[in-house]
Amino acid sequence: MRLKNKVVIITGAAGGIGFAAVKKFVQEGAKVVLADYDESQLASREKELQEKRMGDFLSVVVDVSDRNSVDRMTKAAVDTFGTIDVLVNNAGITKDALLTKMEPVDFQKVIDVNLTGVFNCTQAVVGHMINNGKGKIINTSSVSGVYGNIGQTNYAASKAAVIGMTKTWAKELGKKGINVNAVVPGFTETNMVTTVPAKVIESIKGMIPLKRLGKPDDIANAYVFLASNEADYINGAILHVDGGIAM
Ligand code: NAI
Repeated sequence: MRLKNKVVIITGAAGGIGFAAVKKFVQEGAKVVLADYDESQLASREKELQEKRMGDFLSVVVDVSDRNSVDRMTKAAVDTFGTIDVLVNNAGITKDALLTKMEPVDFQKVIDVNLTGVFNCTQAVVGHMINNGKGKIINTSSVSGVYGNIGQTNYAASKAAVIGMTKTWAKELGKKGINVNAVVPGFTETNMVTTVPAKVIESIKGMIPLKRLGKPDDIANAYVFLASNEADYINGAILHVDGGIAM
């Protein structure tokens, strides 16, 4: 058990990658806070964990783009488990359109969740990590944020910004004993890619040296590694988990 008794908040925990991560963190002995906006999906994930009698966890409905909501999530985590050791900023949304067709409201919404949400959650929890003299923050970027992607002005901007914040926080917080890293998933089999037409998926697979999309577990494994003591000297890293789609 690499994360015995570590208190871990995972945002977007009811989603494809988030819930894969929840199960892995629980298996590694962590106490996990499942934080998500989707109340009904969260309830069904909670039921699954209860049925499998999996570990110590708490579900919290949160909107990461709303600072008051994030503060309530943080308080619930600390009231229940005493502290916060690891934050996985995994919640994210897409609202794709070409630049010429993108509604300003959809541009802003993606920025609010994917960028401001990461800022909100990190600022809300980091004080607990500073008090402990240690902590791990794991952010989720995207290959779209590194290389750009047609139809994803808002999403690519938010995910590129996550890399900028990761490197900044790695510099600011390193001396406090806090490691800050980012995972860069490639195309991964979750609801986020179910809207992509099959023909496009086939052409994406053709571009990936490993010739398959990522699985939620592939990304969750990277989260667990970066949260573990095995990654104690990794700080400011941008870890691509994308099958080598672009290098
Ligand atoms: P998903 O759609 O399955 O899960 C995202 C979760 O975030 C959902 O459960 C949703 O309810 C939650 N969420 C959305 N808005 C929220 C808010 N305001 N507050 C709290 N929770 C909120 O998507 P997936 O694939 O599991 O995505 C996880 C992360 O991985 C995201 O940050 C995404 O951008 C990133 N990613 C995913 C890729 C993919 O191909 N699936 C590729 C690159 C990055």
